[in-house]
Amino acid sequence: MKIFLDTANLDELRKGASWGIVDGVTTNPSLIAKEGRPLEEQVRMICDIVDGDISAEVVATDAKTMIVEGLALAKIHKNIVVKAPLTRDGIQATAALAKEGIRVNVTLCFTATQALLAAKAGAYIISPFVGRLDDISTNGMDLIRSICTIYKNYGYKTQVLAASLRHPIHVQESALAGAHIGTMPFKVLDQLFNHPLTDKGLDQFLKDWAKVFQESGATR
Ligand code: G3P
Repeated sequence: MKIFLDTANLDELRKGASWGIVDGVTTNPSLIAKEGRPLEEQVRMICDIVDGDISAEVVATDAKTMIVEGLALAKIHKNIVVKAPLTRDGIQATAALAKEGIRVNVTLCFTATQALLAAKAGAYIISPFVGRLDDISTNGMDLIRSICTIYKNYGYKTQVLAASLRHPIHVQESALAGAHIGTMPFKVLDQLFNHPLTDKGLDQFLKDWAKVFQESGATR
C-alpha cells in the first residue's frame, strides 16, 4: 500500500519525506487554509519536498468552473492530481478532465455506489473517508472493503485511497482490505513506528554491546 501524508504543513512533509517512505500527499481546502499561503504557492512548495502524486482540490462547485480550476491546477506541476468532490458537478468535471488526460482524485466519498460513479467517470483515485463514517456510528472500513471488491469485479483501474484515517488500526485494516493508498496525518504515520518491545530490545542490545566493547576499551 502506498503511504500518503494528509497535510499541507511543510515541516511535517519534510520530516516524513526524510524517512523515505512517503509516496505522495493529499491536501484539501481546510488543510491549505491552515497554512495561510495561497494554494498555488503552497502546492509548489509541497511538490519540491515530495516526489509523488500531490492532490490539490478545486473550490468551485459548478462543473464548468471546476474544469477551469482543474486545468490550472494540473499546470502547476507534473505530479499534481486534481481533487474534485463527489457531487453531480464534480463527477461531470472528473469525466471531462479525465478525457483531457488529467488525473482526478474524487473526494468526499461515503458510499460504494458513489465510488462506482467515480470509476465510471475515469477517476484516477477515489477517496472514501473512513474516520468520518466511524464518527457517525457507521463502519468506515466496510466501505473500503466494498469498493475494493466492486472495482476488482469489473477491473476498474481507479485506485482506492483510504482517507480520514485517524489511528494505526485504520492503516492496518486499509492495507488488509487491499486499499492501494492510505493517506494519514503526520501524527498517525509517526505512530506506526512505535512498539515498546522495539525500544526495550534496542536498549538491551546497546547495553550488552557496551558491556563488552566499551567497558573493555575495544571499539568492536
Ligand atoms: O483526506 C481526507 C481527510 O483530510 C479527512 O480527514 O480526519 O478531517 O476526517 P478528517
